[in-house]
Amino acid sequence: MTTPNIAKEDIINAFQYRHATKEFDATKTVSDADMDFILKTASLSPSSFGFEPWHFIVVQDKELRELLKPVAWGAPLKLDTASHFVLGLSMKAPMTKWESDYIMSMMKDVKQLPADVIEMFSKFYREFQERDFDLDTDKKLFDWASKQTYIALGNMMTAAALTGIDSCPIEGFHQEKAEDLLKEKFGVDTDKYGLSFMVAFGYRKDDPEFGKSRRNFEDIVTFK
Ligand SMILES: Cc1cc2nc3c(=O)[nH]c(=O)nc-3n(C[C@H](O)[C@H](O)[C@H](O)COP(=O)(O)O)c2cc1C
Repeated sequence: MTTPNIAKEDIINAFQYRHATKEFDATKTVSDADMDFILKTASLSPSSFGFEPWHFIVVQDKELRELLKPVAWGAPLKLDTASHFVLGLSMKAPMTKWESDYIMSMMKDVKQLPADVIEMFSKFYREFQERDFDLDTDKKLFDWASKQTYIALGNMMTAAALTGIDSCPIEGFHQEKAEDLLKEKFGVDTDKYGLSFMVAFGYRKDDPEFGKSRRNFEDIVTFK
């Protein structure tokens, strides 16, 4: 494994360059290789206990994109112009609860942990959910999985920016209506997955009209 050595200036440049792209140049396409690269950074993102409580649907079908418009007021122009449009799904309680089949299979099949380690991990995970984080309702468990899926979102947008690809995160949708649609038309098991965000990728049509405005660094950071 090589230690990364990217110039800080290039990274900050990418952060300055990234902006929530309102309209993409519909004639430009992100290559399959670049899109795989972006999605790979989601897969490599950290998650609590490493349980990866997410799934990503890349919506390239025009008819499916049309269906999303009425339930996602923040998305129509992006649905029309983005090269790639991704739905970020997060797992619901039946998947992420400490004793679920999914968690057991993650430990056994993906992480290939020995039985005694699985037992120890299960105990930790149970205590974490029930005692430390008080994840006692389905809503809290979904929100917790959602927080983790947002880490993948951030990483995908940064990876895109670092390679000159634009993006826009989208939360402008009606949760219940969008999930009903996902169940009916996208084949999503909405007992197991909920919609956390949408994110569009492509190439900007125009540079942003206004420069980046941010609060003063001193107002958001305190050193003690
Ligand atoms: C969680 C989240 C949800 C957002 N939802 C939308 C949206 O629905 N539609 C949209 O055009 N922009 C959306 N944005 C983009 C923000 O408006 C934008 O990131 C913010 O104004 C800062 O501008 P910048 O990203 O260009 O620096 C969202 C951003 C975040 C982080």
